[in-house]
Amino acid sequence: MQYSQIETAATCLREGKLVAFPTETVYGLGGNALDDRAVASIYAAKGRPQFNPLITHVAGMQDAFAYAAHDARAESLMQAFWPGPLTLILPRKKDCALSLLVSAGLDCIGLRAPDHLLAQTLLKETGIPIAAPSANRSGRVSPTLAAHVEEELGGRVAMILDGGACSVGIESTVLDMTREVPVLLRPGSITREQIASVVGRISVVGDGKIKAPGMLESHYAPDAALRLNAQHIEQGEALLAFGTTDSRAPIMLNLSEHGDLTEASANLFSMLRALDKRGVARIAVSPIPMEGLGIAINDRLLRAAAPR
Ligand code: TXA
Ligand code: MG
Repeated sequence: MQYSQIETAATCLREGKLVAFPTETVYGLGGNALDDRAVASIYAAKGRPQFNPLITHVAGMQDAFAYAAHDARAESLMQAFWPGPLTLILPRKKDCALSLLVSAGLDCIGLRAPDHLLAQTLLKETGIPIAAPSANRSGRVSPTLAAHVEEELGGRVAMILDGGACSVGIESTVLDMTREVPVLLRPGSITREQIASVVGRISVVGDGKIKAPGMLESHYAPDAALRLNAQHIEQGEALLAFGTTDSRAPIMLNLSEHGDLTEASANLFSMLRALDKRGVARIAVSPIPMEGLGIAINDRLLRAAAPR
C-alpha cells in the first residue's frame, strides 16, 4: 500500500466521497460521519434500510468520548479490547457532532476502533470519524477481500483501499451499553465471557424481548440455499466442511481441516462467495461447535440459512 493512496483516500473522505477500506473484521464502506450527505450516500450505495444505524469508526477512546457520553464500564471495555472487534452502543453526548443519520433516529451511537494499520492510519490522517457499515449491498455476505467489495459496490465508491484478506473475517461483537445490564446485540470474536470478565453480568438478545435495530433475521445471505448441521450430503449439494471429512462431495470447501474456529471464521464469507461462484444451488454445512468464536459463526450461518 502506497502512502499516497491513503492521502488520496483522506482527500476523498474530506470531500464527502465514499472510500472502502479494510478492517480486521471485514471491509467497511466509509464516509465522513460528520457529513449528512456523505452518510446518506452510504445508505444509498448499500441499498440499506434507513432505520438500521451505522457504526462510527474512531482511532481510540479519546475520540469516542468526544461524541459519546462518558461511561466507566465502557471505558474499561475500551481499555481491554480496543483497538479491536468490539462495537459499543453509547448515548450521544449533548451537542454530539456526528450526523444524526448514523443513529438512524435513535439517541445512541455505535463506536469502534478498528485494529488494522490501514484503517488506523486513515483515521489519524484525516482526523475524521468514519461511518462504515460492511461494504456489501444490504442483506449480502460481508466482504473480506478488496475483490469482494469491487463485486458488491464497484462503481458506487470513489476508491477501494486494498489491505488483503481480513484476519478475523466476521463482523465485530456489538454490545449495547445504554442499559443497566449491557446487552450483546451481535456475537463476534470478542466473546460474551471475555466481556463479562470486565463488566460482570451481561444479557444476550433473544434472552428477553430485546431486539437490535437492523438485526434482520435473513442477512449475510449467499445466493445458494444453506442446510446447517449436515452430517452427510444429499444429491446435488456442495459441502462446506469443518474438520476432517471423508465426504465424496463433488464440490467441497473446508472452513478448517484442523477444526480451528479462528481459521473457520476467517474463511467463512469468502468460501460462501466461492461456492456461489461455482453456481451451486444448495450447500450442506458441517456442524460447528457452539463455543467461543463458534457462537458468532453459527449466528452468521443461521441468518444466511433463514428464509429470504
Ligand atoms: O466489524 C464490523 O462491525 C464492520 C466493520 C466495517 O467495522 N461493520 C459492520 O457494520 O458490520 P454493519 O453496519 O454491517 O453492522 C452494524 C451493526 C448493525 O446490526 C446495526 O444495527 C448495529 O451494528 N448498530 C450500529 N449502530 C447502532 C446503534 N446506535 N444502536 C443499535 N445498534 C447499532
Ligand atoms: Mg453488514
